[in-house]
Amino acid sequence: MNPSCPPPVPSPPSASPTPDAAAQLTALGVRRQRRASASAGTVVPASLPEFRRYRPRAGHPDWPRLAAEAEALARALEPRLARPAGGLASLRRRAASLRTGAQNYLENRRRTRAGRHDLLPLYFIWTTLRPCNFRCTYCDDHQGGRYPELDGRGKLDTAAGRRLLEIMRTRAPSVYFAGGEPTLRKDLPALTRAARELDYFPIVTNSNGSLFDRQLARPEWASFLADTDILVISLDGLDLATLARMWVTDAPEDVVRNLLLLRNLQRTQGFKLMVNCVIQPGLTDEARAVLDLCDDLGIWFCPVPRNVGPRIDPAVPADPGYPALVAEILARRRAGRRISGSLRMNRRLLGGAPLDCRNTLKPHVDHDGHLIWPCKASVNVAPVRVNVLDFEHVDALWAHCSRLIDATAFHGPAANQCGADCNWAQNYTTDAYVDGLRHPLALLRDVVDFARA
Ligand SMILES: C[S@@+](CC[C@H](N)C(=O)[O-])C[C@H]1O[C@@H](n2cnc3c(N)ncnc32)[C@H](O)[C@@H]1O
Ligand code: SF4
Repeated sequence: MNPSCPPPVPSPPSASPTPDAAAQLTALGVRRQRRASASAGTVVPASLPEFRRYRPRAGHPDWPRLAAEAEALARALEPRLARPAGGLASLRRRAASLRTGAQNYLENRRRTRAGRHDLLPLYFIWTTLRPCNFRCTYCDDHQGGRYPELDGRGKLDTAAGRRLLEIMRTRAPSVYFAGGEPTLRKDLPALTRAARELDYFPIVTNSNGSLFDRQLARPEWASFLADTDILVISLDGLDLATLARMWVTDAPEDVVRNLLLLRNLQRTQGFKLMVNCVIQPGLTDEARAVLDLCDDLGIWFCPVPRNVGPRIDPAVPADPGYPALVAEILARRRAGRRISGSLRMNRRLLGGAPLDCRNTLKPHVDHDGHLIWPCKASVNVAPVRVNVLDFEHVDALWAHCSRLIDATAFHGPAANQCGADCNWAQNYTTDAYVDGLRHPLALLRDVVDFARA
């Protein structure tokens, strides 16, 4: 254990599900599970595989109990959930999104050759709302703000949200629902359904994972998982006392149980489950535990060094455990384990390599439907906020925004440039794409590398 890691706390002596899970299980008509623990000699749930890499430690979750709860919840929920549209409908949606992506690629190549940086989006990130039920101590909105502390007023309602999706779809092949905590929105399933009808692919949601047991039991949420392509759950460690302090919640176990629940549901619901792990200074052994757990459970692992504002927190690479963690992640990626992103991208991200940033490839739209142009993380030049709903098409929106601030050569250290020298994880994906605009074979290599894993 890393010396700066807080002392381990013993597992809670739980003979029954956590209060939330107990209420949920009761609401779903599921009989309480007898605590399944090795010491009691009872059976470990079949859905929990033998841990080969992950080593449970004192203070980590009570796995047999959580797995039993997750299994019971999955059994109760599964018959109520809609099945994903497969076959032709799914192929048609992917083809439509691919067509947009291919058109954008050709146009972006043309713009790049002409020296322009106002590139068309690979996807867009929508802060669907700002409030959150956690208060993560490291939470950063790319501008040094914390979502739960920002003014949450003005979020788009469902109809306006749908309109936003329609407008952005004129050029964006993919959408990334974020927040704040997006699952606090009652209408998130209506929005993911709209995204599916509009042929977005992939449809990604990033969540702290704490509410899924409750939300999925609501009839309005029956189609949410079926309409989602990638579900990213944030999990930065497994020591429950550390997580409780870091996330400022008294129920960190809910996240772990819900991760197991989602893992149980992913096959029938057809989405890809990922864990986003923010690597914290002093807690590299906890990140390693999450890496190992994901490996054992077959869940995709996305490592992200903690940022402070636009840059990696210098305390992360200075952590004596960091080089070994990075080496292990890269070795697993090389070995074809489920590490998200290409090997090159991970090497650059974890090493904090300087970026070839093209901010407009991954535009941020705020909770109120305003596009933050050309980049949310800009330091020297304040970005402009433009209401997307005032436009019919992304081309008109991009042209209007370009008149306000020229995105070309915006990235850089000068007073009239962003000055950010960013290390945000998303920028390493767009950095790989920019490299691929100049060297299509390199992009193909990255895509094949990604697809192979
Ligand atoms: C702002 S959160 C919003 C979605 C949701 N509430 C969640 O936590 O997953 C989006 C992602 O940003 C990550 N994040 C927040 N602060 C960060 C920081 N300082 N450095 C790196 N990633 C951060 C979170 O862990 C999460 O995966
Ligand atoms: S759960 Fe997400 S939005 Fe909420 S405080 Fe944590 S990182 Fe920020």
